[in-house]
Amino acid sequence: PRVGIVVVAAGSGTRLGAGGPKAFVGIDRHSILRHALDGVFAAPEAQVVIVVPEGREGDARTEALEASGDRSDLVTVVTGGATRQESVAAGLRALWGDVEIVLVHDAARALTPPEVFSRVVGAIDAGADGAIPVLPVIDTIKRVAGEEIVAAVDRSELASAQTPQGFRRDVLDAAYAAASAEFTDDAALVADAGHAVSAVPGHPLAFKITTAADLDRARHLLAAAPE
Ligand code: C5P
Repeated sequence: PRVGIVVVAAGSGTRLGAGGPKAFVGIDRHSILRHALDGVFAAPEAQVVIVVPEGREGDARTEALEASGDRSDLVTVVTGGATRQESVAAGLRALWGDVEIVLVHDAARALTPPEVFSRVVGAIDAGADGAIPVLPVIDTIKRVAGEEIVAAVDRSELASAQTPQGFRRDVLDAAYAAASAEFTDDAALVADAGHAVSAVPGHPLAFKITTAADLDRARHLLAAAPE
């Protein structure tokens, strides 16, 4: 396939407090990772690299087999690193063949609809070096220094970034090879390497499961959704 999707699922889940790696926590009868993979395999065909904590590689392979409907030929599982950036780098090294577009996706955004993947790929096909899904910022945002409000920030200039974040493979590989700092997302790393990244509409369901309240929200959404 010409699209590769790196699903990063190697986080520790400390903030979720479920006592184990977040991606393997159940939302309903299926784990966060399984739900994320259901979205990935409902998107246009792609090579899929799943990045997991050391020791969970076999579990991830099992989840991937089920989610992919036995397309294990499309799936690679690798061990992640200490930071998200290291985990993405490990995933990129595992891509093979003729992949031209790489999407990096947080497993923690488990309910991301397939259409978001298509939008990101579409923007790159239309000529962008990189494209990310964003949502408008709802809160009023302040710049602060300790307890002092330094400035109001014009909300209309802001957006919150989601995943999957997509890039031309050559651009992303080069940006990772050149990266000399830690960035909080791939778009920042690619922008630091001098490339323009464009925005496509994100989706409320692409929220990141971080806290116990987020997990509750995902549970309620799935319980309310028709099978
Ligand atoms: O911690 P946070 O939820 O922001 O992480 C975002 C995504 O990055 C998660 O899907 C998590 O599993 C992944 N991650 C990773 N390796 C790390 C840290 C986070 O794959 N060392």
